[in-house]
Amino acid sequence: MIVSKMTPQERILQLRSELHEHNHRYYVLNSPSISDYDFDMLLKELQELEAQNPDMYDPTSPTMRVGSDITREFAQVAHKYPMLSLGNTYSKAEVADFFDRVKRALNEDFEICCELKFDGTSISLTYTDGKLVRAVTRGDGEKGDDVTANVRTIRSVPLVLKGSGYPAEFEIRGEVLMPWSVFDRLNEERERNGEPLFANPRNAASGTLKLQDSAVVAKRGLDAYLYFMLGEELPADGHYENLMAAGQWGFKVSDTTCKCSTLDEVFAFIDRMDVERKNLPFATDGIVLKVNSLRQQKNLGYTAKSPRWAIAYKFQAEKALTRLNEVTYQVGRTGVVTPVANLDPVQLSGTVVKRASLHNADIIEKLDLHVGDMVYVEKGGEIIPKITGVDVDSRFMLGEKVTFITKCPECGTPLVRMAGEAAHYCPNYTACPPQIKGRIEHFISREAMNIDSMGPETVELLFNYNLIKDISDLYSLQAEDLMFLPRMGAKSAENIVASIKESLNVPFERVLFALGIRFVGATVAKRLVRAFLNMDALMSATLEQLIAVDEIGGRIAASVIEFFAKEANRELVSRLMDAGLQFAIEEHQVQDRTDILNGQSIVISGVFAHHSRDEYKAMIEKNGGKNVGSVSKSTSFILAGENMGPSKLEKAEKLGVRLVNEDEFLAMLGK
Ligand code: IVH
Repeated sequence: MIVSKMTPQERILQLRSELHEHNHRYYVLNSPSISDYDFDMLLKELQELEAQNPDMYDPTSPTMRVGSDITREFAQVAHKYPMLSLGNTYSKAEVADFFDRVKRALNEDFEICCELKFDGTSISLTYTDGKLVRAVTRGDGEKGDDVTANVRTIRSVPLVLKGSGYPAEFEIRGEVLMPWSVFDRLNEERERNGEPLFANPRNAASGTLKLQDSAVVAKRGLDAYLYFMLGEELPADGHYENLMAAGQWGFKVSDTTCKCSTLDEVFAFIDRMDVERKNLPFATDGIVLKVNSLRQQKNLGYTAKSPRWAIAYKFQAEKALTRLNEVTYQVGRTGVVTPVANLDPVQLSGTVVKRASLHNADIIEKLDLHVGDMVYVEKGGEIIPKITGVDVDSRFMLGEKVTFITKCPECGTPLVRMAGEAAHYCPNYTACPPQIKGRIEHFISREAMNIDSMGPETVELLFNYNLIKDISDLYSLQAEDLMFLPRMGAKSAENIVASIKESLNVPFERVLFALGIRFVGATVAKRLVRAFLNMDALMSATLEQLIAVDEIGGRIAASVIEFFAKEANRELVSRLMDAGLQFAIEEHQVQDRTDILNGQSIVISGVFAHHSRDEYKAMIEKNGGKNVGSVSKSTSFILAGENMGPSKLEKAEKLGVRLVNEDEFLAMLGK
């Protein structure tokens, strides 16, 4: 009766609100209050009314959950906050190390939020005024695919938020999952249709999210758990508290999430979840530990890849027993030779394993491996599984003993083994093909020169056709040289030449990383560049000068010296210089630098309000100072925040080292 008094517009709004509520009860709370049939009737009524009233279109209407068959290319969207990954640990000892690191760095009480590590594909959702406006995949962490139309079909993702108190604009991140039951059903169906099977629910979830047809996505039964809120005005300083608020707004947050304040409580959570995870309806591969306070998170900061305030703990991997058929050898870009076990295919944690790493000669020797042995394979956190043991009892005929090769399988050069190292190397640095190709692949990779029109296959092709013998040859390639190669057209040839040319703008720190000097990763390269400013200075630096740079130890320093001691490398650099690559820090970065703190050794201690520790560290370095870890008589002053460690304080007083607070320090730098 009431219905008849309403305008269609009012009825549409009423139905939308009721259906949102029913969706939430069914997919998030698991407690529906109406039958599926009644739900379908209400949905059908809404669909009809919306069809008659196109001016009432709303992308967040519950009818959008069924998707549409419009095929679209995904637009790329830049993430407002990069999507980072987590550092992995595999033992309680490593978890204890994390706990200690946090404790030492914060020097005050803290809580840890313990969560499941959902094994799906990550997603970032943006809500404006309580409505889902965008869903973006992780992509490369900087930018991802806009999969909003597909995510709208996931019933447990709220299109419109419930309750109140949510920020006008925020992002929430989580994992899109395919529950085991859906995964099994999907694979059965694919098998019947003669389609390739998905290896595991994670692949199935990410494959589904990338389907062009959202109507198919809608039928796949994806689910989503949320675990990370970002924005300027979040409801609380606590990560856990924010997740609970998200639950009130209609998001699915796991009810296993809890807060701990001691390491023992964290261990108890790990033990509990290692059992309970086997009964969960979806795949998990570990747990995630996060420092709960956002203020403390900010203080701990990030490394280049992951937050210092969180880690993942991976559950012990499953084991499988299978036959070893052969050992082959792979040569990497640094010349390290890795033995690979070729196995009878075996099912392990949802994928079929045919090859496993044997790491080095010592491990082969320790396992006393013979061809034909039945071996245990495990998948640790690494993508490549490893052999962890031999089932000696099942040996009835002993095959040939596996002994490490003595010559490079690629170029025949006798292998060498450095004193104190487990690995064998091929010393043929300049002419061993996989080393050359590996260096070129590293050079063009995204984090390095980002020559994205080329991949390993192109490198292989150009190398085989003698067009490139080292990275400097890239810069003399012409489109005409390339376009007649197999599988290459004029367009791709031009793209390759254009992106190589574009790489001339890549800043010095990435060029240095791209050279592939052993132990010089992206972060180390950045530090070296900040300290030496240009390539000439770096190439002529002594071991002492290198070690004097913050966080550059003897091992890195020796590797840098060794690299530039090679005539071939010096010539390579000179060719790259002639080609026009960046070999000096950019002008504006130099301009930002001052020598206000020249010659000063500064200790940072305590908790800060205006900037993170990392930011203060960078400020010290930029202004000519050196950040040191412990207080000594040569410490110039301590940049002291709240709750400075008592031992540091005592030492400072004893040695008469000055304390400078945050505001005084900023004033010193004229900020
Ligand atoms: S937090 C900056 N929490 O694990 C930290 N990640 O290696 C952001 N994952 O890409 C991630 N469960 O896809 C977080 N409870 C959880 C998680 C989780 C699964 C995935 C996520 C991320 C990867 C990190």
